Amino acid sequence: MRLIFLGAPGTGKGTQAGAIADKYNIPQIATGDILRRAVKEGTELGQKAKVIMDRGELVPDQIILDLIKSRLTEPDCENGYILDGFPRTLEQAEGLDQLMDGDAVDAVIYFEMPQDTIIERVTGRRVCVSCGKTFNMINNPPPEDNVCPRCGGDIIQRDDDKEETVRKRLVVYEEKTAPLVTYYRERGRLLTIDASGAVDAVRKEIETKVETLNA
Ligand code: AP5
Repeated sequence: MRLIFLGAPGTGKGTQAGAIADKYNIPQIATGDILRRAVKEGTELGQKAKVIMDRGELVPDQIILDLIKSRLTEPDCENGYILDGFPRTLEQAEGLDQLMDGDAVDAVIYFEMPQDTIIERVTGRRVCVSCGKTFNMINNPPPEDNVCPRCGGDIIQRDDDKEETVRKRLVVYEEKTAPLVTYYRERGRLLTIDASGAVDAVRKEIETKVETLNA
């Protein structure tokens, strides 16, 4: 099972990718998480990426394609993967097609949601800096002491989740990433889901659509 999760920031891609990856026993490959790990470790890539991410812009295509190329050769990708937050530009989509000889993906799950809900969700998001567990001030608040119940790490707001940066990320999404909806629709790969429902309802809709691929 090879899936791409495509959608604007905060539409729930990461939340759903974790559950679906567990169900099908395939890795969740999130370029945002890979970059945030590099930032935390203070690598050369991390230092370069932090400035770009804090501005709400995209890291250059070639850097991302190199990361993905190396990650997809790891043994846990043999039975498939979920690409979460990649590709994000036409150049990345074409690069992925080249890398996999035009056979990179069984389906692209497109998370559709109104913009107002997106801003509310992203600005309300809190994450554990150690294990990445996600919370939300509106419907799933973190403990009052901001200590992660799963690993004991600190729970924080991502630097790029401040409203001004979220709005910038949405502009970048419309300009650079939204054209991928047409790209994958034309290739007969797009499965659209209503991402505005509750977490369980969204997961069920994805599972139902993914099962049709196996039928
Ligand atoms: P990245 O980390 O990929 O961010 P994103 O795509 O902007 O996605 P998010 O993590 O913001 O949202 P999500 O859809 O995963 O939502 P989540 O499940 O957390 O990228 C960050 C940056 O890295 C980019 O800006 C860029 O600079 C760089 N980058 C990454 N990949 C790149 C690439 N390929 N090329 C170039 N640059 C790249 O949910 C959001 C919130 O809503 C959470 O609080 C959650 O608890 C809550 N929630 C989720 N589902 C529901 C629901 N159904 N109901 C209610 N609340 C919900």
